[in-house]
Amino acid sequence: MTARAAQLTPAQMDAFWMPFTSNREFKAAPRMITGADGCYYTAADGSKKYDTLSGLWCASFGHGRPEIAEAIARAARTLDYAPPFQYAHPLGFELAERVARFTPKGLDRIFFTNSGSESADTAIKIAKAYWARRGHPEKNQVIGREKGYHGVNVGGTSVGGIAPNRAGFGELMGATHLPHTLLAENRFSKGCPEHGADLADQLEARIRDIGAEHVAAVMVEPMSGSAGVIIPPKGYLERLAAICKRHEILLIFDEVLTGFGRLGATFGAELFGITPDILTMAKNITNGAVPMGAVAVTEDIHAAFMDSTPLEYDAEFRHGYTYSAHPLACAAGLAALDVLERDDLVSRAADLAPYFEAQIHNLRGLKHIVDIRNLGLAGAFQIEALPGEPGRRPWQIALAAWERGLYVRFGGDTVQLGPPFIAEKADIDHICEVLAEVIPATP
Ligand SMILES: Cc1ncc(COP(=O)(O)O)c(C=O)c1O
Repeated sequence: MTARAAQLTPAQMDAFWMPFTSNREFKAAPRMITGADGCYYTAADGSKKYDTLSGLWCASFGHGRPEIAEAIARAARTLDYAPPFQYAHPLGFELAERVARFTPKGLDRIFFTNSGSESADTAIKIAKAYWARRGHPEKNQVIGREKGYHGVNVGGTSVGGIAPNRAGFGELMGATHLPHTLLAENRFSKGCPEHGADLADQLEARIRDIGAEHVAAVMVEPMSGSAGVIIPPKGYLERLAAICKRHEILLIFDEVLTGFGRLGATFGAELFGITPDILTMAKNITNGAVPMGAVAVTEDIHAAFMDSTPLEYDAEFRHGYTYSAHPLACAAGLAALDVLERDDLVSRAADLAPYFEAQIHNLRGLKHIVDIRNLGLAGAFQIEALPGEPGRRPWQIALAAWERGLYVRFGGDTVQLGPPFIAEKADIDHICEVLAEVIPATP
């Protein structure tokens, strides 16, 4: 694979319209990845690149896990595909039961999707349909949050709050947004910042404007990852949850990124002691090896669908994907969750988190770094924007880091870190040493 990938000519790269990528920039100087093992990628020239973001926050248990590869191969040989509508295969049930053992108590009904975006849109549709099934079809608006990311489908794009991701599409789904919680007074906070819990009270104002009888759900990430690791202020999520409860509004936690250990707890819900009504997952559920997502809901929500569908042969929820609970994804999921449990990786992430926090905050004071944020094994450096050219510096930092043997994610004016849970302290030292050189050296 290495040789073939290394030999791609510019013409051979024309057809692939790359996602969320500057295609022109990439194709002029490709950063081609041809292999992965443990915490490292192999580039087309044979060099190793440390994976500082666990792929895209999804391969957190380390690359190339043989148990997962073998489970996928076995599934492909035994049952490559089975229709999930009105028929099924046993692995789907097995994985749902397994996932429900991880999700917070009470969120035991699992609907499978193929991605985080599909999980987000599924959750939004469930919330709207729930209230309709309970006799309140007018209770159908969803409130998101500025800088939130819920993927790229119509619902998630609309409820998401990253303005450039919404721009340019005209009318999608109507949604309102709470203010984000990225406050100047919280700069360089370690873990959850002190200021900003009162921003949750803005939800009361939004509900007053819209009327609780029109609000189906509030959807937030416990920690906003994609917009640059924005950590909830102390007490903020608790306040948000209490307001939702008071007004009988469903709370949706998007745990696509935080799920299965990233915050040093199985879910953000567990870390913050909050049980949402709906919880979305994807990414780590298969350790990134096969696309898969899932939505967990309460018994009450599930019952609303079961109880209100009179014809016994009719689907209770007219929603699902050709590849929902795909046999290969289920096999990968079961194997990945085995690895997570057997190697006690959530505890491992939690144990490494204080060291990660200390090391990344040691970079405070370096040129261009105007904020550092962290929670669990998620961290970000906020980089001072180059006047008139937002996002340029992090891109340049990532290019320099790639040359120095690090794969680094850049987005907006942040450099984000989400190392694998199997990372060693020496790996964190190495990441920080390289960044301490390349960040200040960037023009
Ligand atoms: C919180 C959250 N929701 C949804 C998504 C979208 O997931 P996907 O890219 O698998 O569609 C992401 C991806 O980063 C995410 O972080």
